[in-house]
Amino acid sequence: MADLTIPEGGFWPAPEIPQPNIYPMEWRVETEKLAAIYEKSKRMVWNPADLPWDGLNAEDFTREQRLGIMYWFAVLANFDASGPAVFARATIQAFEKHEEDPVRKCFFSITRDEMNHEECCQRTIAKLWPGGPLNWTPSDDLETAAHNNIGWLYHNGGRYWNGYTTAVGKYSLPVLFTSFMMGEMAASTLFRGMASGTQHPVFSEMFQRIGRDESRHLQICMTILENEWPGLTDDTRTLITRQLRAGFVFLSMILWEPPEGFWELPPYFLPNHRVLMNHARDAGLGVLSYEEQAENWRVAMARIRAIVERWGIAFPAIPELDLEGVPVDFIDPEEIIPVF
Ligand SMILES: [Fe+2]
Ligand SMILES: [Fe+2]
Repeated sequence: MADLTIPEGGFWPAPEIPQPNIYPMEWRVETEKLAAIYEKSKRMVWNPADLPWDGLNAEDFTREQRLGIMYWFAVLANFDASGPAVFARATIQAFEKHEEDPVRKCFFSITRDEMNHEECCQRTIAKLWPGGPLNWTPSDDLETAAHNNIGWLYHNGGRYWNGYTTAVGKYSLPVLFTSFMMGEMAASTLFRGMASGTQHPVFSEMFQRIGRDESRHLQICMTILENEWPGLTDDTRTLITRQLRAGFVFLSMILWEPPEGFWELPPYFLPNHRVLMNHARDAGLGVLSYEEQAENWRVAMARIRAIVERWGIAFPAIPELDLEGVPVDFIDPEEIIPVF
């Protein structure tokens, strides 16, 4: 065996690594609970390709119903299709900021789950409306209305991405995570409602599984926030209040109906959206009624209010749901943190 080389005067220290940088690669664990959630996420992994797709057939629906279902999944995709990229970016950020190992792993698991949720949109649309959401040619007024509305939705989806990519670096973890927490609260509420409303075996299993994932995402966010909230400053609290309003304005598109003050939509969007949503309802997708949606959303927002008020964060006024609070004016696309 060759002899070790010991330099005269001792070993030379390696140079300092400039930050932010993903190194060093250590596996520091501070929050055991997050490590346990990550283990659970691996055990609960499921494959969207294994849903009972043979039971979902275009012939079982009228053309209007198929269009309605495609439209609903296109609206959902406006949220869920951002999921993988949003959390992939957050995962990289967690590495760069040297967050503890379970934080990095949990973000990765959310990225994995969101890819599955997006795949559900993709597979359903491919079966019921090939070419959807946008790569098809409408042949009558109803189809044109659907195609045009989806185009407007995607226009809005495209408006927040630049804002998000800067927000990830700009906002502190509690600000980012309050928004994430709100998105996960919204998502788990939505899919629980849909799972209870649908009569279709494919959608029933899909919504139950997605709902379970979203509840786990919510648990991850809450666990991280419990670590982060004690160090809040007043400036951060004010920012979080705005973020909560931004989250409401953004997420209402899929949970209920889009409120004023962010969405750029033509005047006919909402009436046509209602017609298309009614076709999706009629198809047995599990879309709750306007009133049921409002009630679920109100309950979810009230839960968020109870959580944030414990930490001295003022809740924004949500007059649309009769929830009182601090008035927050117009929401800029830069303030939207897209998450689901
Ligand atoms: Fe999701
Ligand atoms: Fe999620």
